[in-house]
Amino acid sequence: MSISRSSTYPIEPVFLQRWSPRAFTGEAISEEALLALLEAARWAPSANNAQPWRFIYLMPDSPDWQGLLNTLNENNRRWAPQASAFLVLLSKTTHIRPGASEPAPLYSHSLDAGAAWAYLALQAEASGWSTHPIGGYDRAALQVLLGVPEGYRLETLVAVGKRGPAEGLPDDLRSREQPTPRRPLTEIVAKDRFSFATT
Ligand SMILES: Cc1cc2nc3c(=O)[nH]c(=O)nc-3n(C[C@H](O)[C@H](O)[C@H](O)COP(=O)(O)O)c2cc1C
Repeated sequence: MSISRSSTYPIEPVFLQRWSPRAFTGEAISEEALLALLEAARWAPSANNAQPWRFIYLMPDSPDWQGLLNTLNENNRRWAPQASAFLVLLSKTTHIRPGASEPAPLYSHSLDAGAAWAYLALQAEASGWSTHPIGGYDRAALQVLLGVPEGYRLETLVAVGKRGPAEGLPDDLRSREQPTPRRPLTEIVAKDRFSFATT
């Protein structure tokens, strides 16, 4: 059974084509190819153009590859080790505004980092790679492992790889290995004032 995605209004196909697989082939990704995906993230918009996103990338030969895998929760550890690379997305929580000398809290640091992740995910899809964000990991442990100082929020990991056959996945994950649907536009968009269901 597979869900084919369709949009109510016409959009670029890449938005429908991107989804987050768990089955990866394990094919190696070159640093150059990975950096090309990060290049797309670089061009995301952000408040004050502060660009608070920071990405740490790890390849299978990275000294902390296994350490990173150890921070994954049990569920994610069942599939994510087949990824070709991991990105660790951080956001810097403060910013020195133009004309100021001291850093001030940046309200939108996570929002901005989210935009960068989305740019990267779409570029990956366009380049023949897949991505799967992972929020289920031990942030405190990864922060220590990678030497992330105070002032940075650990947002999400991103597994990067070539989409593989679902057959290799455990049964329960295999049945979920397909694009997910979305709420209808009418449920997430209101005209003029708040009119959403609040339950
Ligand atoms: C911030 C964030 C955290 C996520 N954490 C996990 C995770 O820990 N494990 C997992 O399998 N998927 C995780 N996902 C993937 C979502 O479940 C997935 O993006 C969502 O169901 C929509 O499906 P799609 O990306 O295939 O369109 C995460 C996604 C985001 C954006």
